[in-house]
Amino acid sequence: MEVPKIAVIGCGNLGLAIVEGLIDNNDIPNKNITATRRSLPKIQHLVAKDVNVTDKNELAVKEAKIVILTVKPYNLLTIAKELKADLAPGTVIVSTATGVSIQEIADAIGTDFSIVRAMPNTAAEVRESLTCICDNGVSKEDYQLVEMLFNSIGKSIRIQEDLMDAATVLGACGIAYVLRFMRAMVQGGIQIGFDAKTASAIVNQTVKGAAELLTVNGHHPEYEIDKVTTPKGCTIVGINEMEHNGFSSSLIKGIVASHDKIEEI
Ligand SMILES: NC(=O)c1ccc[n+]([C@@H]2O[C@H](COP(=O)([O-])OP(=O)(O)OC[C@H]3O[C@@H](n4cnc5c(N)ncnc54)[C@H](OP(=O)(O)O)[C@@H]3O)[C@@H](O)[C@H]2O)c1
Repeated sequence: MEVPKIAVIGCGNLGLAIVEGLIDNNDIPNKNITATRRSLPKIQHLVAKDVNVTDKNELAVKEAKIVILTVKPYNLLTIAKELKADLAPGTVIVSTATGVSIQEIADAIGTDFSIVRAMPNTAAEVRESLTCICDNGVSKEDYQLVEMLFNSIGKSIRIQEDLMDAATVLGACGIAYVLRFMRAMVQGGIQIGFDAKTASAIVNQTVKGAAELLTVNGHHPEYEIDKVTTPKGCTIVGINEMEHNGFSSSLIKGIVASHDKIEEI
């Protein structure tokens, strides 16, 4: 199979994380990757790694099999329309923009293309993104290519488009919820005696360990909680106190509030 060419249009935070993930991953030769943005100096360092860099989107997409649009949602449809004439039929268009539907993208560029929406999160920067992906019925081969791209910056899950807002809330906003929870743990740790640096180190590794317990063992969180909560012990007293103060309830309400808001936008 011919190794596909990939164009990443709008190589800012996310686009760059994807390109760097692809470089590390080695499945696609770097010379097959083209990155674009208007402020070229910000991506010029990629040239040393054999990645093509240009501010001309139309040149980048000409021979690309996959075009990843990592521009802001308000730019997306305009840029897609500008590129329409330069896209070869059968190109896979991947949009990471929040709230722009597959139908809107198809209205902008036509129906000759496979269209995919992907919702990664900022952990892409450290190759630990969770990316939810939906599509308009792409071929198995095209889907595998897209999956490979996003697996190079973490893990991916295929979902239906009607869950894309929910994916944005749980996966992308979710990073902020978890970080706020971690900040609160650090504050608590300082109150019971640790300096901020030590408290952060303990919390960071504890959260990572808790996530790994679930990921590796495939257990429900409550199963792992039961192992820690000795009858009449300090853990259950602490957890119940948190629950009396609305811990789970406030998290669930926050998730639903974010989802209500995203539907308004
Ligand atoms: N960051 C995340 O983790 C994340 C997660 C999920 C989804 N998203 C979505 O992904 C998209 C990108 O987010 P981001 O955080 O990476 O934003 P960003 O850092 O602002 O990146 C967008 C880039 O697009 C470039 N751009 C703007 N107009 C352009 C044009 N006409 N041609 C080529 N490049 C152009 C900008 O660079 P120049 O000004 O130099 O052109 C900018 O660096 C957004 O739609 C966002 O909603 C992001």
